[in-house]
Amino acid sequence: MKTRAAVAFGAGKPLEVMEVDLEGPRAGEVLVELKATGVCHTDAFTLSGDDPEGAFPTILGHEGAGVVVEVGAGVKSVAVGDTVIPLYTPECRECEYCLHPKTNLCQAIRTTQGKGVMPDGSSRFSLDGKPLMHYMGCSTFSNYTVLPEIAVAKIRNDAPVDKVCYIGCGVTTGVGAVVFDAKVEPGSRVVVFGLGGIGLNVIQAARMVGARQIVGVDINPAKVELAKKFGMTDFINPKEVHDVVEAIVDITRGGADYTFECIGNVNTMRQALEACHKGWGESIVIGVAGAGQEISTRPFQLVTGRVWRGSAFGGARGRTDVPTIVDWYMEGKLNIDDLITHTMPLDKINDAFDLMHEGKSIRSVILY
Ligand code: APR
Ligand code: ZN
Repeated sequence: MKTRAAVAFGAGKPLEVMEVDLEGPRAGEVLVELKATGVCHTDAFTLSGDDPEGAFPTILGHEGAGVVVEVGAGVKSVAVGDTVIPLYTPECRECEYCLHPKTNLCQAIRTTQGKGVMPDGSSRFSLDGKPLMHYMGCSTFSNYTVLPEIAVAKIRNDAPVDKVCYIGCGVTTGVGAVVFDAKVEPGSRVVVFGLGGIGLNVIQAARMVGARQIVGVDINPAKVELAKKFGMTDFINPKEVHDVVEAIVDITRGGADYTFECIGNVNTMRQALEACHKGWGESIVIGVAGAGQEISTRPFQLVTGRVWRGSAFGGARGRTDVPTIVDWYMEGKLNIDDLITHTMPLDKINDAFDLMHEGKSIRSVILY
């Protein structure tokens, strides 16, 4: 079949919207009609050429929602007409990782996904007979895409796809880090570095689980108003204090129970660890630092009980946990609407990247 898609032909080049060829689903695969997709920093990172796994030409996008229109042989867990969210972190429920209680990093299709192909080693997308690469196993910048069955989460049919697409990456990354990875307890004092799309989701999850104090740290005071709406109780601008760690220790009465780094800066990662309470404070790294960068601190920080850890896709097991997060949104426990600051048709997708680079959007969503 033919499908409209935004194709990335090379590093740093604008996406080109055109008709491409898409082969139908093979055994264990499903064909999904995307209704909406968010544009995320990770797409921009790969497009920039800095992503060591990035291969061109490719169809980017990994934060979508849509409807199943065809299933391949042997597919049992989803059917035609189901509303689904593609999963760049799949959940096979059989591999060593899926069976281990401490991780969500299913490895069932990791190798082929990283190479931009389906689990059988081939691509379903092509242009003039030449293959186009899949991206993060999703390629949601195409109106139709083929996904392995283990890489789709079936969600309730009454969920608005133009909003819940954001659960495909940003919402789950922030909310899951609080709920599934850190397991923040009611009454906790939480500090969030970076009040962008990820940080705001951390903040609203901390509020949802009953944190007593939620301190936001950002160099841009324009972020304060929205962050307060999402549950931030205190704000620290690093440019206005002598020492940001000292300021946090002060305001949290001895250090945070949990800190979350949602910037991707190795200096703020260190601050986030050192702002944790002696004896029990945990710092969770969510932001993705540039290739080759390293973190450092004095080991004494760890010896004295602080914990440093990371979180990918919020620790969520996609097929199990994504439908739950959709429920939280539908029940009014999570606000997604106010985070989607811009919408546009696929033709205007390059504008979404511009808005992101200019810091004008929290999230842009493409509506098919
Ligand atoms: N100190 C404090 N705040 C900072 C600093 C700093 N040194 N540098 C940037 N910020 C703030 C920005 O002002 C902005 O509000 O961090 C926020 C980052 O937000 P976004 O750019 O919207 O990024 P977001 O989508 O939230 O992603 C954050 O997570 O997924 C990763 O790749 C992504 O590493 C990035 C991080
Ligand atoms: Zn698995």
